[in-house]
Order: sequence, then C-alpha cells, then structure tokens
Amino acid sequence: MTSLDSTTVEELTKSDATHTGQAAERPLVELRHVDKYFGDLHVLKDINLSVSKGEVLVIIGPSGSGKSTLCRTINRLESIDSGEILIDGQPLPQEGRQLTRLRAEVGMVFQSFNLFSHKTILDNVTLAPRKVRGTSKADAEKEGIELLSRVGVDTQASKLPVQLSGGQQQRVAIARSLAMHPKVMLFDEPTSALDPEMINEVLDVMVNLAKEGMTMIVVTHEMGFARQAANRVVFMADGEILEEGSPEEFFENPTSERARDFLGKILTH
Ligand SMILES: Nc1ncnc2c1ncn2[C@@H]1O[C@H](COP(=O)(O)OP(=O)(O)OP(=O)(O)O)[C@@H](O)[C@H]1O
Ligand SMILES: [Mg+2]
Repeated sequence: MTSLDSTTVEELTKSDATHTGQAAERPLVELRHVDKYFGDLHVLKDINLSVSKGEVLVIIGPSGSGKSTLCRTINRLESIDSGEILIDGQPLPQEGRQLTRLRAEVGMVFQSFNLFSHKTILDNVTLAPRKVRGTSKADAEKEGIELLSRVGVDTQASKLPVQLSGGQQQRVAIARSLAMHPKVMLFDEPTSALDPEMINEVLDVMVNLAKEGMTMIVVTHEMGFARQAANRVVFMADGEILEEGSPEEFFENPTSERARDFLGKILTH
C-alpha cells in the first residue's frame, strides 16, 4: 500500500481548526480508529487523534486508562489490532530498517530515565546518532554538548548517570532524544519519578521545547505545565478519549462526570 492510497488529497490539504496560526497541512501524528487488546482487555477503544506540527497535546486520565499504551503504539513499541497510525502522512512500518528510521523520528522520554549506566552523559547523547545515523564522533560530540547545554547539564558531560540527580538525568534523557532530530517528542509522565524540587527544572526544559515549536505529546498530571504549554488537553478513561479541549476549557469546565471526578481527586492532593 502506498501512502497515497490511505491518505486522500482532501486529507492532505485539510487544515486543523484546533491549531490556529498553522497553515493548512496534514497532521504530523494521526491515529485513525485505533484498537488494541491485551488478551481480553480492550485497552485502546477506537482512538481518533490528530496532532499538528508544532502542537503540544497533553494526555491526562486515571491510572490504567491506556495513556502509556497509546504513547507506546505511536513509536510502535506496541502493535495495534486495528486502525491506522500515520507519522507525517506515512503509515507506521511493521518492522525492519523503516521502523528504525521511524523510531528516530519519534523521540520518547519515559518516567524512568533509562540512561546507559556504564556510559558517560556525553556518550549517552552521542550513541544513537553515531550508531543509527552514522554521524562522526566529532560532529556527534559537538552537537551533544550543545544539546546538554540547552537542557542545562553540559558541565556534567563526562560523568556517569549515577553521579547526577534525577532531574539532571531526565534532562539528559531529553537531550538524548533530541539528538536524533525527532519530528515529534512523546513524554510519558516524565516528572512523576522525581523529587518535587526537581520537577520544575524538567518542566522548564519542556516548556522551552514547546516554545521552540517542537511537536509534543505529553502524558502528565502537571496542570501548571498543561496550562502554560498545551494547545489541547485530551482526557482518557478506560481506553477511550472522553474529552478534548483547550486547557482552560478542560480544567475549568470538564463536561464528563469521569473527568470532574478525576480532577477533583488530583486537585485535592
Ligand atoms: N504488556 C501488558 N500486558 C497486559 N496488560 C497490560 C500491559 N501493559 C499495560 N496493560 C494494561 O493495560 C491497561 C492500560 O495500561 P497503561 O499502562 O496504558 O495505563 P496508563 O493510563 O498509562 O496508567 P498509569 O497512569 O498508571 O501509568 C492497564 O489495565 C494495564 O494493566
Ligand atoms: Mg502510564
């Protein structure tokens, strides 16, 4: 199947009315009727979602609602049972070299930092560009230092991950993803494993990324971040998208009982 079979001209030229200021263009990430099961558990139920270039989408919802699974399907760490996922108009490849290339276009930062513990901070950031993109050591290190500087940890370049705080390690993880020049960045609760005093230093990096125009899908319950940086909030429960709106609309006027109940719980903590 070629990409044009699945993407009509109309869809290629339609504009996303939810994202003002962007010229008419196709979504950068698009999920169409996506379903996924874990055995009998219907974990993603007919998910339809479009994210345009430069948009910041926050996904929020109770534990077990499928937020992580949704992120993992977008860079194909999880397969789907039906529906379609397109990145920049291209269907997700099943495997092989094309999948490796796609993964490089979709950066992902998890709750746990997953840095290589026996490699220096700089090596952590340069490894993928060197191995996957074939970038020279000198070029990868030059850009690596720039990226570490951008997230405020360039002075730590020669240290091992264990010598850094959790907040610093998470910022390195962000720099490591950026080193592959992704088209979109996925964040799955990037601050939930951090001590409170380190949360803001990571959120600040993310806010800056958003300001620079990075397309981002962020699973987080940090409402300050959502209000400051999100163009749109999606509320998930039981594998379904129940609400979608601007941060103001969602936080001030949630329409579903589930969302009101959930917000009541996280706001009182
Ligand atoms: N590999 C797996 N095998 C079987 N079930 C799974 C697997 N991964 C997740 N699940 C189940 O799928 C559902 C959705 O999980 P998921 O991790 O996507 O939720 P979540 O919204 O990210 O939750 P949390 O807020 O706790 O991170 C849960 O019921 C979970 O137990
Ligand atoms: Mg999760």
